[in-house]
Amino acid sequence: MKKLIIGCDHAAPELKNIVRDHLIARGFDVEDVGVHTTDSCHYPDIARKVCEKVQNGEREMGILVCGTGIGMSMAANKHTGIRAACCSDTFSARLTRAHNNANVLCFGARVVGAGLALDLVDAFVDTAFEGGKHQTRVDMVMQIEREQKA
Ligand code: RB5
Repeated sequence: MKKLIIGCDHAAPELKNIVRDHLIARGFDVEDVGVHTTDSCHYPDIARKVCEKVQNGEREMGILVCGTGIGMSMAANKHTGIRAACCSDTFSARLTRAHNNANVLCFGARVVGAGLALDLVDAFVDTAFEGGKHQTRVDMVMQIEREQKA
């Protein structure tokens, strides 16, 4: 069963807990790095905690929730090897796994309700990367990352 990690900023602890509990009920091993209150915090700190454990292989996939999902996805995509997708529809959540081999899903607690959030995470964690021509394109994306860091 997949090992997941989830985090959020102050905009999203309630939704993060709902998503975490749903995934645990489905049998996933879910690490919750917080936050646990609505006290103001900085989303890049949480993105870093989640992405570092995906980068080092401790966790297979990450889920990040902030107000819009955008700040989290921007911060996540600054991490080498992280392919984060900000999604608010299930088609995109499914296709970003199938075609982009995304390893972090982001969404906004001020954008999606709990029902849609659960559909988004289910679509994300249940979809396999298709490889083939999509592997070629993902390799090209990662080559951009290597060249930018050189
Ligand atoms: C916090 O107010 C908000 O800016 C944050 O949750 C997120 O939406 C940033 O992208």
